[in-house]
Amino acid sequence: MIVQAAITGWGKCLPPGVLNNHDLSTLVDTSDEWIVSRTGMKERRISHVDVSDLAYVACARALACAGKGADQVDMIIFGGCSNDTQVPNSSSRVQQLLGANNAACMDLNTACTSGMYAMSVANAMIQAGTIRSALIIGAEVISPFMDWTDRNVAILFGDGAAAFYLEADDSGEEIGLQAEALGCYGDSRDILAVEGVGLKYANLGWPLGSTHWNFEGQNIFKQAIKGMYTGCQQAIEKQGIAKSDINVVVPHQANLRIIELLANRLELPEAKLFVNVHRYGNMSAATAPVALVEAVEEGVVESGSLILVPAFGAGLTWSAQLIRWGKRCTPINDCDIDLPPTSMSGLELVKQCLKAHGQYKAPVK
Ligand code: UT7
Repeated sequence: MIVQAAITGWGKCLPPGVLNNHDLSTLVDTSDEWIVSRTGMKERRISHVDVSDLAYVACARALACAGKGADQVDMIIFGGCSNDTQVPNSSSRVQQLLGANNAACMDLNTACTSGMYAMSVANAMIQAGTIRSALIIGAEVISPFMDWTDRNVAILFGDGAAAFYLEADDSGEEIGLQAEALGCYGDSRDILAVEGVGLKYANLGWPLGSTHWNFEGQNIFKQAIKGMYTGCQQAIEKQGIAKSDINVVVPHQANLRIIELLANRLELPEAKLFVNVHRYGNMSAATAPVALVEAVEEGVVESGSLILVPAFGAGLTWSAQLIRWGKRCTPINDCDIDLPPTSMSGLELVKQCLKAHGQYKAPVK
């Protein structure tokens, strides 16, 4: 009998600072109308704390949801690409904040797909018997790395985190991750590149924190649909199911048009799609995990639902997971852990980033 990795805890952490489309139109030449019609996005969140702080709160909530203590975690996998420190890694800071002293800690970076790749890694390690439990995280604080002067990218991204608690289940029930497909279009990796982040740039004397995004939007758009479609087809084939068996599709939320075209190509009804892109924009590694948490919280995912989660990101990495949800859709315990409060708005936090990069110019009255 194959041990299954049941998902028994889930939690999210969205920073309180809201940046809406009107705020963005005071920074770059754009409009609410353009952003909504081209992307479906209305708001995104901007963090006043480090990414590991968001990840910690999401993990504390996932643990409470599962009714587990911090000592019941064998492995923490932090999925994301905006770590507050490179060495030591972000998962070790989450371990420290949780007091999860029995956990091994690893960081995993496949950009926007990192949270879902983390789920695949933890699932495989539980099935192999290496570990019995894991906290997997998709978290990003992209705002300090954003080029807030470039309207092509500044409107698209936000900050956030989500986490899941996975535990070995010997009941023989088919629950948790049932099939997945993972891939990467490495030949096209340069069409989505954040120049300025990484040792390569430090060695060139690039000012710390200052970035330029190579972002070929239309090309990425096409590759995103191709990658997610391929992943979905492969996962469905591996599992030997009919598309009609899928109850909910929780895709990476990079653009509402991408989501709708993907559903159309997969011949899946839009009614099965879970969409929250209007609330948070694209949170990279946190996107699909936050969407999955919200699909459960909002009752879209029900006991025993079969969920398809396609994702796509820089690299160009792609993934698709087929997940069978367990019986329980409500948390065992509540969690009173939260972020430290802030009085700063999303726009004020962005202006702080611009000032740090020497780019903020007060508008001429
Ligand atoms: O998670 C990683 C994966 N990311 C993605 O998958 C993103 C994929 N790409 C996209 O979602 C879309 O390509 C974008 C939303 C980035 C852009 O939408 P688009 O429909 O492909 O627009 P476009 O780049 O073709 O630009 C159309 C026009 C251009 O003006 P002209 O040349 O027609 O005069 C742009 O300069 O819109 C202009 N434009 C804007 N206008 C107002 C570009 N950005 C903006 C903006 N506000 N923010």
